[in-house]
Order: sequence, then C-alpha cells, then structure tokens
Amino acid sequence: MRVLGIETSCDETAAAIVVRDLSGRGTILSNIVRSQLEEHAAFGGVVPELAARSHVTHLDRIIARACEAAEVPLDELDAIAATAGPGLIGGVLVGLTTAKALSAALGKPLVAVNHLEAHALTARLTDGIDFPYLMLLVSGGHSQFVLVRGVGAYERWGTTIDDALGEAFDKVAKLLGLGQPGGPQVETRALDGDASRFRFPRPLLKEDRLDFSFSGLKTAVRLAAEAIAPLSEQDVADICASFQLAVAEIVSVRSRAAIERFKTELPEAALRLVVAGGVAANRTIGVGLQRVARESGAQLIVPPIELCTDNGAMVAWAGAERLALGASDGLDFAAKARWPLDSADMGLTHAV
Ligand code: KG4
Ligand code: ZN
Repeated sequence: MRVLGIETSCDETAAAIVVRDLSGRGTILSNIVRSQLEEHAAFGGVVPELAARSHVTHLDRIIARACEAAEVPLDELDAIAATAGPGLIGGVLVGLTTAKALSAALGKPLVAVNHLEAHALTARLTDGIDFPYLMLLVSGGHSQFVLVRGVGAYERWGTTIDDALGEAFDKVAKLLGLGQPGGPQVETRALDGDASRFRFPRPLLKEDRLDFSFSGLKTAVRLAAEAIAPLSEQDVADICASFQLAVAEIVSVRSRAAIERFKTELPEAALRLVVAGGVAANRTIGVGLQRVARESGAQLIVPPIELCTDNGAMVAWAGAERLALGASDGLDFAAKARWPLDSADMGLTHAV
C-alpha cells in the first residue's frame, strides 16, 4: 500500500510517500519537508496567516517532489493522507483540501489524520514495535504522556496546563534575545554555561500527577534575566544551562512516574517509552531520559530527529495504519483546530 502523506498544521510544508507491506512493515520512499522558518523570523514566532499562505504557495511543488523522489506517480498511489488537525486551522485547511482534491481526482481513499496520532505511531514505522507503549510527546505545541494501546486507542495520562515544553524553550530564547526556534539556540548557549548558577523552580513537581507546567519557570527566567541586565554572554549561557537543567529534571521525574504507572496498569506489557516531538533533539533531556529508562528497566525509543519533528512520513504512516484496519474518511471531513488524542472522535479503536 503506497500512501501519500501531507503535513501543513504548523510551519512545515511536508509531503512523503510511505509503503506499508502486508506484514505491517513500513518503508519511507520519500520525505520532503520545507520549513517556513525564514518567513516568520522577523516576527519572533509563527504567524498563522502567513503560514497558511506559504503552504498554498509551496504544497503542490512539495507533493510533486515527493512523488519524483519516490518514483511513484500520483496515479500509482493507493491513498492520500493529510493532517486534519489539531493545528493552525488555515494551514490544516490547505493540506486537507489539497488531499481531498487529489482523492477526488484520482479516485483513491482519503485518510484524515490526527497530527498527534501521527507522532504517536511513528515508532511503529521506525522501530516496528507492537502495542501497547508509553509516549512522551514534547513539541512546540504539545507536552503530554499518552498510553498508546492501539490505532485510535489512546489514553492521555498527563499534559501541560500552560505552555508546551518547546514553547518554553522558544520564549526563553526570545527573552534572552536569541533566534527562533529557541530550543537549539538555548541548547547551544547552555554548552558554555554553569547550570548551578540559577536555581529555577520546578513547577508542579511535588504534586503526584503526570502534568507539566512551564509558564512559571519561564517567568522565573525572565525575572532572573531582568535582575542582572544587561546580560553578558556568560550570563546568557548560565541562564540557558540552568533553565535546561530544570526542564530536564522535570521531564525525568515525570517520565519515571509515568513508567511506574505503566508497570502498575499493564504489568504484562513490554516496558517502552517512545519520545516524539522536536524537543526530543535536546541532548540534556535525552541523557536524563536514558538514565530513567535504564533505572526503570524500560526501553527508550527515540526515532531519528527528522521523524520526531513535523514531517509527511508520519502522516502517511498513520494513514496506512488506519487503512490497513479498513478505515478511511469522507470528503466532508472537517479540519479541526483542536482534536485531543483521547477524544471520542478518533474513529477506530483497535486496542490491545
Ligand atoms: O515537533 P516540532 O518540530 O514542531 C511542533 O511544534 O509541532 O517541535 C518544534 C519545537 C520548537 O519549540 C523548538 O524550539 C523545539 O521543538 N526544539 C528543541 C530543540 N530542537 C527543537 N527544544 C530543545 N532542544 C532542542 N535541541
Ligand atoms: Zn508536531
């Protein structure tokens, strides 16, 4: 089954072709991503209207390139999948409408994919793992623990009550005068910093829950920076290192607790923690997670970073997984700005 996947929910215009064989194994034939970073740079963040217009300008060509790179012409596709939410609604509409047009013109099924589900199922494409498993999704828009029981069967165990982790990195970078996206900038500056100089708060951490909160931490960073302004290069490095240490500790403590809950609720299941989202690229957080996994006896799975960040291959794969279970969607499927993974309208529930 050859599936085209289209992703336009934020600031990446992406298309990919993925094959799923009868045994359920996936292969990526092409994976083209065009980042809009430069278009939004002057505004210090993604401007939704600009993002949507840019998707309109570039998506056709990105799809053509995905077909060329895969050597699969449009009429040899078996299905079209596109992110139908959650995300910036203008962008989602561009990708979903394009997918509907292709589906109608080619007479091939449409699969409307939940973007979070695409992140959640990526580890089955890259590592061929079985259900169930625990996922930590940490991106610019989301920070959550999800129990992945099957295609369409998700339990959200914890989420952020304010900012997403990537968003916190981006805001800290912005207040320190660093560029966007902030995560890589903060990580690079932190290399030269003293992580023990500032003791930033670890919000919510004493509470017995799997939720995150990062906005108080961000405010503490801002106050610390204002208190010692103007900042030297060393001050910036020390703030970055101290902030990064705080978030790495938060993620580690919460992940350890999530793994313990998994052990209690699914004692028979193989213990696996899958990480997804752009923040998975952060090495300090990664080292913390490796330690937690080792000490908890869990297998840590981090897909290659280009598949952790937004891409079309994960959308194509999620589409293929749904199609393999007999699911597809009508041309009247409405784009959704909000679409939590554990909502009633996930369609399938093939749980283990
Ligand atoms: O998954 P992603 O590419 O896009 C979505 O948000 O869906 O994630 C982007 C986020 C940004 O907030 C970016 O600052 C963060 O991931 N990020 C990082 C790193 N690389 C990207 N955060 C911390 N450390 C990094 N190395
Ligand atoms: Zn994403």
